[in-house]
Amino acid sequence: MLDLKPTGAGTGTAVAAREDGVQVRANVYPVQVAGVGIAIPEGRLTNADLERMVETTDEWIVSRTGIRERRIAPPDVATSDLALAAARAALNDAAMEPGEIDLIIVATITPDHSFPATACLVQAGLGIANIPAYDLSAGCSGLAYAIDQAWHALSSGAYKNALVIGADTLSRIVDFTDRRTCVLFGDGAAALVLSRREPGATPGILASNLGADGRGGSLLILPAGGSRLPASHATVAARQHYLQMNGQEVFKFAVRILEESTRRVLAKAGLTVDDLDLFIPHQANIRIIEAARERLGIPPERVIVNVDHYGNTSAASIGLALAEALQEGRLRPGMLVAMTGFGTGLTWGSILLRWTKEPNGTPAVTER
Ligand code: ACO
Repeated sequence: MLDLKPTGAGTGTAVAAREDGVQVRANVYPVQVAGVGIAIPEGRLTNADLERMVETTDEWIVSRTGIRERRIAPPDVATSDLALAAARAALNDAAMEPGEIDLIIVATITPDHSFPATACLVQAGLGIANIPAYDLSAGCSGLAYAIDQAWHALSSGAYKNALVIGADTLSRIVDFTDRRTCVLFGDGAAALVLSRREPGATPGILASNLGADGRGGSLLILPAGGSRLPASHATVAARQHYLQMNGQEVFKFAVRILEESTRRVLAKAGLTVDDLDLFIPHQANIRIIEAARERLGIPPERVIVNVDHYGNTSAASIGLALAEALQEGRLRPGMLVAMTGFGTGLTWGSILLRWTKEPNGTPAVTER
């Protein structure tokens, strides 16, 4: 692991001491969140609606998951449409023009198409060109993965302003005849503008912890439509174009990794759970959030929960919760916040932030 020690104020250069003792020089610029924006479809799917679609009850859904309703994109709205709307809202919040962005990363498992990348569609929608734009697949950990990647791209000095988006329309891959999964998921997008600051500025992003354990790949999977099982009449008839999940195994993994990854990211910054002002866990199930919160020993008032009105929005989840914390005035400059996701892969990702952005009164939300 690299242990970066700044060599002098104002140089932006650090000495990285590798575990093998070799010293390398690296540019290290502070990176801050400059803007946040979200996009959520107007259409709501309530538990009462689901009672009419599958053998379930509002009581079962609320007691087992904490979810009361989710947002569902209309047929003519794809992931890139939500991603673009969130991107525009984030740019507006950052008071920046699209032309100031020099890197776009979209985290999604429901891209508009296998290719081109959804990030390229967003780039075209913003009317900009000639900058890298790519997608990243890490399920509900996607936004944490994307923030980590953009952070390193910016802190190295290679890029100046990155647009990082978590966007998913899981309603497109959910089997609405399967009560075990269809009650859980909703659609949405969240975007962050991350900006490189001059050396000496307060670092916004302090640490990250990413990981994956591919042995759990079959626990949450979209079996068909890729090179393993190309689309055919048989795969459609077998409903293999819908996501399949082993809920109980994912549940156990989620509770364990939410605690472990959050502790690891804090330890990397030399901090502990007691230093945290706000914890933003992936919003999959209130019981997962509660179990992780208790293991971590964080009081309920320091945890953001919005799973009741959005359900599990996959890559958008921690971004939607971050935006809500800002809108409610629960996240203010100077606060320490950890955002931790987990998802298909299996993957996990935790980002530790010192919040630096003053509220500017600009609405960060676009509803569509
Ligand atoms: N309504 C009524 N009954 C239901 C429903 C429903 N919607 N769904 C399942 N049941 C039944 C089951 O059939 C079962 O009945 P049985 O005992 O007669 O067989 C019973 O309820 C209990 O089922 P379990 O699966 O044991 O229920 P559990 O308490 O584990 O809750 C759940 C299921 C909500 C899926 C839970 O396991 C969970 O949240 N798992 C984690 C899921 C998750 O976080 N996924 C997101 C990963 S992120 C990403 O990358 C997209």
